[in-house]
Amino acid sequence: MSSTTSPRMSLVALACALFNPTALAAPAPASNGHAFQRRAVVDPFAILDEQKWVNPDNMTWDDFVAPPGTTWGDTSKPGRERNFNIAMVTVDYPDSPFAVTLEANSDIFNNPLPSAAGLKREDVPKFYLDLLNTPNELNEGHTLHEYWMGDSFGKYGVNLTVFGPYRMPSLSYQYGIDDEQGGFNEGACPEGPPCSVDLRTDALGAWRRDVGDEVADAFELAFILSAGQDESSTWQEFGEMKFASPADVPDEFGPPGNSSLPNSAKTRYVSWTSWAAASTIWPNAGGGSSTQGESSGMATFAHELSHLLGIGDNYNNPYSNPARRAYTGPFSMLDRGSFNGPGGPHTRYQIPPVQGASMGSLHTMRDKHQIKLIDSTPILQVSRTALSSSGPVVAKLFARAVDPASTESGIMGFNITLDSGGDKSPACNTSQDPLCDGGAYDNYNVEVIDRMGADSFTPDSGVMISKTRNSDRRQPFQWVIDANPEDAHVVDFYYPNGTARYWSIGDYRQLVDALFHAGTRSGSQFEHIDTANDVHIYILDTLRDETGVLSYTVGISSASSSNSTSKVASPYGLTLSKGTSAPLTTASSSKYSQISACTFTLSNTGSPSNATSSASHPQDLTKYLGQDIYKLSASVATEGWEVVLPNALAHAPFGGQTEVVVGVGRIGQGGAAAEGVKVVLEGVSVGGGVRASAACVVG
Ligand SMILES: *[C@@H]1O[C@H](CO)[C@@H](O)[C@H](O)[C@H]1NC(C)=O
Ligand SMILES: *[C@@H]1O[C@H](CO)[C@@H](O)[C@H](O)[C@H]1NC(C)=O
Ligand SMILES: *[C@@H]1O[C@H](CO)[C@@H](O)[C@H](O)[C@H]1NC(C)=O
Ligand SMILES: *[C@@H]1O[C@H](CO)[C@@H](O)[C@H](O)[C@H]1NC(C)=O
Ligand SMILES: *[C@@H]1O[C@H](CO)[C@@H](O)[C@H](O)[C@H]1NC(C)=O
Ligand SMILES: *[C@@H]1O[C@H](CO)[C@@H](O)[C@H](O)[C@H]1NC(C)=O
Ligand SMILES: *[C@@H]1O[C@H](CO)[C@@H](O)[C@H](O)[C@H]1NC(C)=O
Ligand SMILES: *[C@@H]1O[C@H](CO)[C@@H](O)[C@H](O)[C@H]1NC(C)=O
Repeated sequence: MSSTTSPRMSLVALACALFNPTALAAPAPASNGHAFQRRAVVDPFAILDEQKWVNPDNMTWDDFVAPPGTTWGDTSKPGRERNFNIAMVTVDYPDSPFAVTLEANSDIFNNPLPSAAGLKREDVPKFYLDLLNTPNELNEGHTLHEYWMGDSFGKYGVNLTVFGPYRMPSLSYQYGIDDEQGGFNEGACPEGPPCSVDLRTDALGAWRRDVGDEVADAFELAFILSAGQDESSTWQEFGEMKFASPADVPDEFGPPGNSSLPNSAKTRYVSWTSWAAASTIWPNAGGGSSTQGESSGMATFAHELSHLLGIGDNYNNPYSNPARRAYTGPFSMLDRGSFNGPGGPHTRYQIPPVQGASMGSLHTMRDKHQIKLIDSTPILQVSRTALSSSGPVVAKLFARAVDPASTESGIMGFNITLDSGGDKSPACNTSQDPLCDGGAYDNYNVEVIDRMGADSFTPDSGVMISKTRNSDRRQPFQWVIDANPEDAHVVDFYYPNGTARYWSIGDYRQLVDALFHAGTRSGSQFEHIDTANDVHIYILDTLRDETGVLSYTVGISSASSSNSTSKVASPYGLTLSKGTSAPLTTASSSKYSQISACTFTLSNTGSPSNATSSASHPQDLTKYLGQDIYKLSASVATEGWEVVLPNALAHAPFGGQTEVVVGVGRIGQGGAAAEGVKVVLEGVSVGGGVRASAACVVG
């Protein structure tokens, strides 16, 4: 549509007047008992579901939206099945106090922020307990308990108990510098005492000596909170973003004064950072405990707790050479969803951490299922092979932030098993093509993401289509299909010399526009066709209900079925009524001088008993099989006129009908007279390739 606001507004108003919703919303009987799903007719010129992704840098706490009717943060309500009983062990070092005990903005990382400065050492444990798990002003009311309750729909909560502070026997850098062969900071250990000292041994040892084994053993898991920064959130901001070259790192950021080492050091993803950044710990989890720094936000704790539940990482090196695309990026807690939060990733070094990494994304449907936050109830199990005999599967999927039990369909997503032959995608080489998914996946997953609950800080709302593996052992175990695979070309930051650094090809934010959307002209895609795997996924429609809950109607068919030519035996059928046109109206849009619309009735004349007979899906999908999907196209032959098809897909139950509205407009003053403008609608059945067309005369 036009880029100016007012003409578009008037066009919308006009169109609404033309297409009286009440006249068309009358329920029609459907022969097979399916409710007739008729949308209130909307302006056919309007974009049904425009993609409007948001850069995490530009988000604020105002972006948070609670799922309607939920109070997951209520600490008086523990998890239905399990309240994780977690000990948090706080530790500091002879050479490094807790940053929050310092004066505001006084350390070399410009921490702590004024919102938490000058604390007494003995008050630090309670401060972090409250920051992470007691709703308060500083954390904007958001806690780990809220995250896990919302993620598991009340099944799992978090009970955190804090211990310490304990002073560690070695210097902070001795724990932070990972100088083992192949470690993150090889060669960065100053002469003198050793590095790669095990923080777990000393921190958990100090705790056990203090409280005794009986108390310690009563906890399922332990979080170690280490004084100071963590390297994951510091290496870039206090490396290449701050210093022009390794030689430019000042002594302030270098090793202890008597060391002969340079002021820069090796780090995980790129060749150098400041020694000071490299000397801090990299959060990790294993053996029932995890390590975090003061800069590690709530999302870092949620990420590490996920590992403690037995699931691996699903992230790439964003700066690798050759480059490799992110796997699930901002949409997964096991990928860079753990960076989500207002202000974006480059605020993650802040202490206290209440911006980037303070509210990670929810787990993907696959991961929720894997770590038992959900069972299979809300997931429709579909066989790729059975699709060709069962015909299309259609269901309404609800945003994964919303408890499926509270929704109309109860369905969160599809798990389409690539049975009989596995992943048949043509081979590609991840060393040569950054967009190569690596092959050998087991399933397609389809789920709806809405910027709601802990997904509030994901960049977009829409449908996520991904390929998944059943095992976590091989990364990526989940790979998002990117609806917009081209380089987004967005500035990440400016180097000290003023040169813009754009998101790398491997940056997780390349997936900001990955989600699929319904309808035409959305800026995204409404279908995914995988010919090799014979899977075709259709985003049929979308609805945000009056309570704010987002759902998408999604269909799946075999990719080859619509190529079927045997019309005689086909159980599928389609007729299109002659279109009825609305009166031709003068439009005040910048594009059109006159507009109208044609309304067609699409009838599914197929017979369901035939279509759904021999289905052998892993579960009984009868409820979701009674529909056919239609691909639509519209045209107008009159010169100077054009058609707008808001949705190039339609669906209808066997024996049922649906409306298709096509907008038609005279471009400027061009073209022929208004009389007799002929609009043609064509449809083809996805289930069986049956075609139909109908015309409508406007004016
Ligand atoms: C988004 O944030 C970036 C980086 O902080 C800034 O340059 C840009 O102007 C912001 N965009 C909007 C729309 O606020
Ligand atoms: C939380 O854990 C502490 C220590 O184990 C325990 O005393 C308390 O009862 C627990 N609270 C809840 C709500 O489970
Ligand atoms: C530097 O000082 C530390 C602590 O005072 C000491 O352990 C180390 O051996 C010294 N290193 C050198 C190279 O003198
Ligand atoms: C998807 O199906 C596979 C069987 O191919 C199963 O192992 C896996 O657990 C299912 N995943 C989900 C999320 O339902
Ligand atoms: C993939 O590409 C790399 C780099 O060009 C090459 O060394 C490797 O042999 C290729 N792998 C296969 C299986 O072709
Ligand atoms: C600025 O610094 C970056 C990063 O070191 C470098 O890649 C780039 O070439 C520099 N640009 C100029 C104009 O010197
Ligand atoms: C269906 O037919 C089209 C056009 O002939 C072709 O491009 C496409 O590859 C076919 N799809 C399958 C799955 O065979
Ligand atoms: C479809 O079903 C009808 C009645 O159930 C039957 O008469 C007809 O032969 C079937 N057609 C096919 C193609 O199986």
